Amino acid sequence: MSSPSVIVIGGGAAALSFATALSEDIQITLLTKSTTGRSNSMLAQGGIASFYQAGDSAAEHLADTLAAGGGHNDVIVAASIIKDGRRLIERLLEQRFPFDLDEQGEPQLGREGGHHRNRIFHAGGDATGKMLVQHLAGRLQENVRVMEQVTVYELLLEQGRCTGVLASHEKTGLFEMRADAVIIATGGCGSLFSRHTNDATLTGDGLMMAYKAGAELTDLEFIQFHPTLLVHEEVCYGLVSEAVRGEGGVIRDENDRRIMSGRHAMGDLAPRDVVARVMHEEIRHGHSLYIDISGCSHFAERFPTISSLCETAGVDIRAGRIPVAPGMHFLMGGIRVNEWGESAVPGLYAIGEAACTGLHGANRLASNSLLEALVMGERAAQQIARLVPARNTDKGMLSLPVQERYGCYDVPRLALDELQQRMSESVSIHRSGEELQVLYSRLHEVQTDPIHVQKITKEQLERLHLWQLAKLVTASALLREESRGAHYRTDFPVTDDAGWKGKQIIHSRNGIQ
Ligand code: SIN
Repeated sequence: MSSPSVIVIGGGAAALSFATALSEDIQITLLTKSTTGRSNSMLAQGGIASFYQAGDSAAEHLADTLAAGGGHNDVIVAASIIKDGRRLIERLLEQRFPFDLDEQGEPQLGREGGHHRNRIFHAGGDATGKMLVQHLAGRLQENVRVMEQVTVYELLLEQGRCTGVLASHEKTGLFEMRADAVIIATGGCGSLFSRHTNDATLTGDGLMMAYKAGAELTDLEFIQFHPTLLVHEEVCYGLVSEAVRGEGGVIRDENDRRIMSGRHAMGDLAPRDVVARVMHEEIRHGHSLYIDISGCSHFAERFPTISSLCETAGVDIRAGRIPVAPGMHFLMGGIRVNEWGESAVPGLYAIGEAACTGLHGANRLASNSLLEALVMGERAAQQIARLVPARNTDKGMLSLPVQERYGCYDVPRLALDELQQRMSESVSIHRSGEELQVLYSRLHEVQTDPIHVQKITKEQLERLHLWQLAKLVTASALLREESRGAHYRTDFPVTDDAGWKGKQIIHSRNGIQ
């Protein structure tokens, strides 16, 4: 009998945390549609949140997570991820992960929005995600095979169980690959919007493949818009970490007015949804905004990634101001999973941003995402090590005359930039029932062309996934007639605890619950 095997789709921190934690007796094939250097984790600047400072505690980290999450978090899951996260931070310290240290040789802890204490571990100044990915990739063992430039088309099912994938390699074409379990770690869907902080490869693929296979998608209306993207002369150059405000940066308008004064007790370090909304209103009133970094000492040393983005954009940091505007950053919702990363489909797991564990609620607390990726990667690995060896199904890789077994995909006649523009106009920081209804109808009227699996291009498949996801996101935003966390309805501006607290909008092939 051959050894058990699993397939991981994705190559960011969650995928690598899983791959490094899984028993070496289990074979892992990690598939990524681009290269392992392309993921949202690679772009994560801020860091990894964990209670560590004297006087801080799991309870305080949890309280900040829940306050940011708008009362929509799963409290038990959140408490356990925060607790496990601290253990994984200790492990990174033992492994000599190069966290930035202070003069005493202790981790230098930063502050970000919504945190009442300094608890952001960072590395390389503002290159934490990249350094974490590199660290984990360096710890992969021989049981891991990485295949780049492989696009997964769909998940294969046998008697309701996920047993592999249909995929295509750039050079060798279509193949089926069987395994004892499949793990989706494909991240979110920044490409749904015109302006975002995500890698351009983030197109909701994992979510839509899981949905098609029978998994549940939930909390899709909760999309986080990060307050500060570097936007200069209408061009977006990427993220300006919240850590900049943690080091003394403040948001001002063209008249040097501090726009967060009097808007929230935490001022510039209020939770992201609050700051993004204030900025959105200011911009709508014609103001242009920037972060005043004149109070941040040694900016170029502390923030080399942002300094380099500024250089690319032609923004001189010596002038002490970086032009900013909000943009899409993170999907709080995703594939509904339990505390082990298991979806509703046996054999199918989801981890990282693609999954919805309940940690983030309606608005993620800063730097809780790398934390979740580390913890959930390890947990899924532990669960698979318990369950999979007993199965050991017939598997392997099969090049196929697939035209006989697979059919056509209905590709929308909708250009990506039109979809992005419409989503940005109607499902943004402010949403109204009227606009959402118009978009919902428009998305459902889009004509499609049937394209056979052997002919469909990666771009067409991504556009199909984005369009399908846009319909579900819009439906969720329309249905939730209240405002909570990152979901702000101008026609229902109040948080309606009596009607909505604890309620999740869940999509599955059987409809909406
Ligand atoms: C940031 O550095 O502002 C982003 C970190 C995060 O998304 O939590």
